[in-house]
Amino acid sequence: MSTYHQPVMANTCIQQLRLKAKGIYVDATLGGAGHALAMYQREPQIRLYAFDQDADAIFEARQRLEAYDPVLIQANFRDLRTSLAYNKVKSIDGILFDLGVSSHQLDDAQRGFSFDKDAALDMRMNRAQELTAGQVVNESSLGTLRRIFKEYGEDQAFGRIARAIERARAEKTIATTKDLATIIESVVGIGSKESLKTKVRIFQALRIFVNDELEALSAALKDAINLLNPGGRIVVMSYHSLEDRIVKNIFKLEATDCICPPAIINCICGHKSKLKIITKRPLMADSEEISSNVRSRSAKLRVAEKKKGK
Ligand SMILES: C[S@@+](CC[C@H](N)C(=O)[O-])C[C@H]1O[C@@H](n2cnc3c(N)ncnc32)[C@H](O)[C@@H]1O
Repeated sequence: MSTYHQPVMANTCIQQLRLKAKGIYVDATLGGAGHALAMYQREPQIRLYAFDQDADAIFEARQRLEAYDPVLIQANFRDLRTSLAYNKVKSIDGILFDLGVSSHQLDDAQRGFSFDKDAALDMRMNRAQELTAGQVVNESSLGTLRRIFKEYGEDQAFGRIARAIERARAEKTIATTKDLATIIESVVGIGSKESLKTKVRIFQALRIFVNDELEALSAALKDAINLLNPGGRIVVMSYHSLEDRIVKNIFKLEATDCICPPAIINCICGHKSKLKIITKRPLMADSEEISSNVRSRSAKLRVAEKKKGK
């Protein structure tokens, strides 16, 4: 339990959720239950539905939250609406997303998320899923690898790394995180800040692809906005620009009335805004938190509120 992480910007998240006694809330990314616990500590009478697709997280969180009575749901948050409907929940008063992997997942060498821990190339948040990072690296076409590294890693060496993987796997299977790290190093070198960043980006790209993270996020945000009661808030914390862009754009779209092209003078789309954006710019952790919790350094927190009557 000790490796479950300190919740990032916990006070800000809780403040922004504006919890009401007996309100219905969702923690879409339970992890080590740090935020869930903080929610209960602030407002013990809430009804909390907490999601994680990782069975380990659900298991550990059950112990951490034993003093309370949450409904723990082992599911992907892309199935938010149907999972809540299954629990007879049709609307909610607030929802929190703390995206990405937990420190526990990163620190557990066997999960294969991290290049500085040698392990099988796995990277599945949900270990019941079939697709692993090993399969992606060994079986994807050169074009697919290039696309994954370019779109999800945004690294300039995407093409060279994809080709180096193609050459290496023709000799022998790329089995471990160390095998992959060595191939990346053969392209960008070892020891420089830039080569370290490339490793981070390539591993991140694979993780995003294996877990289909961006598609799941878009689907869940749209459902979450529809599920919110008037005045309810959605709080999303992301850790890289791809996620933050999706959050920003979906909030912006749902905070806009007409979305017709500018050339159309009289609206034909009929789109009505559902949200008021609370954070014009993302909130960030302060320097004190960053010095005690390095993970908070890249956190960007965005908040929006459901409009009345939507
Ligand atoms: C950053 S951690 C959350 C940490 C948590 N807020 C805490 O205080 O301990 C993210 C968690 O969300 C889970 N997760 C990420 N994407 C998910 C998805 N699409 N569906 C369900 N769970 C997801 C991960 O398995 C991980 O445990």
